[in-house]
Amino acid sequence: MRDPETNALDGDPQQKVFIKTYGCQMNVYDSERMQDALTASGYATTDDASAADLYLINTCHIREKATEKVYSEIGKLKKMRNAKREAGGDMTIAIAGCVAQAEGEEMIRRAPAVDLVIGPQAYHNLPRLLEKAKGGARIVETGFGLDDKFANLPAPQEKRVKAGGVSAFLTVQEGCDKFCTFCVVPYTRGAEVSRSVAQIVAEAEKLAANGVRELTLLGQNVNAWHGAGEGGREWGLGELLFRLADVPGLKRLRYTTSHPADMDDALIAAHRELPMLMPYLHLPVQSGSDRILKAMNRRHTGADYCRLIDRIRMARPDIALSGDFIVGFPGETDADFEDTMRIVADVGYVAAYSFKYSPRPGTPASEMDLMVDDAVAQARLERLQALLASQQQVFHNSLVGRDVEVLVEKPGREAGQRIGRSPWLIPVVLPENSGHIGDVVSVRIVGSGRNTLQAEGANARSRAA
Ligand code: 5AD
Ligand code: SF4
Repeated sequence: MRDPETNALDGDPQQKVFIKTYGCQMNVYDSERMQDALTASGYATTDDASAADLYLINTCHIREKATEKVYSEIGKLKKMRNAKREAGGDMTIAIAGCVAQAEGEEMIRRAPAVDLVIGPQAYHNLPRLLEKAKGGARIVETGFGLDDKFANLPAPQEKRVKAGGVSAFLTVQEGCDKFCTFCVVPYTRGAEVSRSVAQIVAEAEKLAANGVRELTLLGQNVNAWHGAGEGGREWGLGELLFRLADVPGLKRLRYTTSHPADMDDALIAAHRELPMLMPYLHLPVQSGSDRILKAMNRRHTGADYCRLIDRIRMARPDIALSGDFIVGFPGETDADFEDTMRIVADVGYVAAYSFKYSPRPGTPASEMDLMVDDAVAQARLERLQALLASQQQVFHNSLVGRDVEVLVEKPGREAGQRIGRSPWLIPVVLPENSGHIGDVVSVRIVGSGRNTLQAEGANARSRAA
């Protein structure tokens, strides 16, 4: 008999899993779904790594020396396990995520401590593979199988949803067919796959029924999502957003991350016509130089991107933009970099992620000549980041004195406070009496910092948790 609360078998000390997650929001989502699958097969989650029977690392491969960092972490885990074994215990070590996918068999050869290597398309097999690993086998599962991982993963656990609060992620699309020359995603996450409308709507309804008010649709290239819509017509992300807007209980919708080439008319119309689609868009451009954009295989020029931004702003004039930028791509000259500075100045971003180019093994760019000197790339990065930070601060300051709609998310650090989220993702500290968790309330902004806003009545010296 299983205990309905803990799912443990009678007389069976419950196995505990510790999950460490690196990388993007999709990894956060995947870790939660793996946790759900493990809970359904009898595991409890622990925050105490030393108490874990299973140590699972969900890895990220996007930048700098990711693989080496994972191997060094495995070295530390091996020591932890040896100490446990000396004390009569044991621990299974499982590596998931994009480094697992990229390394595959090599990880089993190079790191004898690892019991299981599992790629992102195989998570629904996790409980079964762990059983095999416990029998002594060392397992690698990194295929891009035809099995539908999502159909085979348990539905999100109600308890987790409650604990996770009023804002949740929902993966609608995985993989990428764009093949930007610097990027590992098409190799680690595979080709673009879209989940079905029925699956997405069912998951959204379940999340909303459990108290979720804000849904962020996730995909490596989320606006490439497409599928057979209700009524048999082919839908894109725009049509899907219109459908999700009808899910009872949901108050806010977001999506990330998008590619400029996939912003179609229906998606732009969704920004015009759906007030619950938040006026915030993460739309990476990577570089402002057409020469570099071409070498990156981005499939658009700087002018294409700016025209697209104009169209989106016509549809939703208050939309705020965030972006990703790479400096020091092979062959990037001072003039190319100035084009990037110019596009940033022209577009105006409220938030951004900017990186120094780092070669990823197996990508076309890693074989290009003309690597930019590190000191030059560093100096460019600092100039770019200073410009982006000043744009962000100007935006935050412009909100002072305005009434802003905030989704109340959780208690604040100090008594009498709540933390909420503005339409532009900036956390807002607000007084407790502004509303209940899950409410969208209008508050007057009276202070702005680098990472937070203060609403009227909240203690101005305190910061968001
Ligand atoms: N070097 C530096 N930045 C990279 N990114 C992806 N690959 C690399 C790389 N090889 C950045 C891009 C992407 C973001 C998620 O990470 O800007 O949009
Ligand atoms: Fe990578 Fe994004 Fe380009 Fe796809 S579109 S290859 S995920 S940077």
